[in-house]
Amino acid sequence: MAEAKTARITVKDKEIDLPVLTPTVGPECVDIRKLYGQGGVFTFDPGFTSTAACESAITYIDGDVGELWYRGYPIEQLAEKSHYLEVCYLLLNGELPNAEQLEKFETLITRHTMVHEQMHYFFRGFRRDSHPMATMVGVVGAMSAFYHDSTDINDPVQREIASHRLIAKLPTIAAMAYKYSIGQPFVYPRNELDYASNFLHMCFSVPAEKYEVNPALARAMDRIFTLHADHEQNASTSTVRLAGSSGANPFACIAAGIACLWGPAHGGANQAALEMLQQIGSVDRIPEYIKRAKDKDDPFRLMGFGHRVYKNFDPRAKIMKESADEVLDILGIHNNPTLQVAKELEKIALEDDYFVSKKLYPNVDFYSGIILSAMGFPTSMFTPIFALSRTVGWISQWKEMLGDPDNKIGRPRQLYVGSDKRDYVDVAKR
Ligand code: SDX
Repeated sequence: MAEAKTARITVKDKEIDLPVLTPTVGPECVDIRKLYGQGGVFTFDPGFTSTAACESAITYIDGDVGELWYRGYPIEQLAEKSHYLEVCYLLLNGELPNAEQLEKFETLITRHTMVHEQMHYFFRGFRRDSHPMATMVGVVGAMSAFYHDSTDINDPVQREIASHRLIAKLPTIAAMAYKYSIGQPFVYPRNELDYASNFLHMCFSVPAEKYEVNPALARAMDRIFTLHADHEQNASTSTVRLAGSSGANPFACIAAGIACLWGPAHGGANQAALEMLQQIGSVDRIPEYIKRAKDKDDPFRLMGFGHRVYKNFDPRAKIMKESADEVLDILGIHNNPTLQVAKELEKIALEDDYFVSKKLYPNVDFYSGIILSAMGFPTSMFTPIFALSRTVGWISQWKEMLGDPDNKIGRPRQLYVGSDKRDYVDVAKR
């Protein structure tokens, strides 16, 4: 029996031995749960750069070599050989489905794609020019006002039903948010269409004429869903876990995840990246923006570049870049100026010492906007598409957390640097 590994820390002349936990693969973890009790000190790690917040078996990332696995399967293989609903089954259940399980799961999800008819009225309360992410946060949170039979988080059956409802209905809600923002009628899901084709149909068809989904674009859309499905303990997933740790219902937790994803440092970067590329406009203006990105006094950053974990290429960005060429070719769009700027910007940045020394590479958001824009989506729909794709990851992590008998409410502490204790002073004496 291998001797248990420990890490020794000396605090106030007291030596404390802490267990070291061994992963399947990746960094070992020093278990500090007893540190405060034994040593009377906290650890300090704002932004969690060196902190594992949980134990998980869902997704593995190696940022140094640029690897991403869902349940052990490399993203490159899943993007090429699998499809989104099969990936959803894998993330939720831990194993790839056999033919019968897959067919049953796809039928189940397909039959949950409609939303309660009353939910249509929620949209009417928003201004037409509301950002679709604002609408999605509101409407997804409101699902807890409709689906009372799947909000008991202690019932595994209800957890399962809520998971299926969320995976099935998020594309419908995202498409409704888009249609509402452009003043077009909502389009109901079509059960004869596959998941990605259904989403494109709900977004781009109109009652006035027949709309045929381009299968090649549907395949590209499906691949984008797969690439965004999960990503370990990123900010929005950590938000969902923290909200879920209090016992909040699944719809409220996913609404919290959508809110967090919206930020430009996170999922909002796909919108910001395309807007940046369009602002640059032409290859000759790239040096000006590279200079700004390197200027400590300039808040400008290259959107779609850099990552907390990846210090090498984000494997999703590589696949997305290949897909961008493919989609633009399918659509007959050649010499797309934005794609040309993106490729030249990537080339220049990766030869520039600032980016090389800080290990800043394109991330998942750098090329995705070029594909989505070419498909006909406005930039405001980029993050909603990220959100609907990530819902399966969020809910899988939420289920994993609730399935852990040792799970408890998340409640970090702090380094207090405020005023020492003092007495109240009457306003007349201040
Ligand atoms: C996603 O976590 C996930 O897994 C997220 C995600 C997922 O699938 O869930 O992968 C999705 O959110 C991808 C990231 C999308 N965001 C962007 O593209 C926005 C631009 N990138 C940055 O804001 C930044 O790179 C972050 C937020 C992504 C990561 O920031 P970190 O890890 O906190 O790193 P940092 O801000 O401390 O940067 C380290 C250094 C700094 O310079 P110094 O202070 O050391 O001198 O690199 C610089 C930064 O100034 N830097 C950049 C830069 N990103 C970092 N400089 C210019 N342009 C950039 N994009």
